[in-house]
Amino acid sequence: MKIILAADHGGFDLKEIIKDYLSEKYEIEDLGTYSTSSVDYPDYGIKAGEAVINGVADKAIVFCGTGIGISIAANKVPGIRAALCHNVEYAKLSRQHNDANILALGGRFLSPQEAINIVEAWLNTDFEGDRHQKRLNKINVYERKH
Ligand code: RB5
Repeated sequence: MKIILAADHGGFDLKEIIKDYLSEKYEIEDLGTYSTSSVDYPDYGIKAGEAVINGVADKAIVFCGTGIGISIAANKVPGIRAALCHNVEYAKLSRQHNDANILALGGRFLSPQEAINIVEAWLNTDFEGDRHQKRLNKINVYERKH
């Protein structure tokens, strides 16, 4: 599985930690940012979203200070379901119920170990389909109309 990573300056440090952790098991493409110099999270959220929708990778993990801005940006790309997850339970539910294709993390609010636990849970939990698919279909229909 290939995983895209992207962050603004607020998420840069955590992105680097997760990149080191995941590189042993997965193919990683890092879309930046590549330092703690100030940048704008929409550039990275949208870039990560487009990469997933264009099939460059199966999933993406995005980071900013809170995870809020970059998840909002990624969710503007039609077909993206970016979930901001604060703990392992959120991560599992975002896969089981929402088929989240992007995980968003807040670099200023998670310890490295908390983030690793969330990432592991997210990558290793499957979508449950059924009634949840019916709900996602409603989002897909809305996106196609607008
Ligand atoms: C940058 O200072 C910060 O606003 C950004 O990383 C993020 O938290 C926005 O939602």
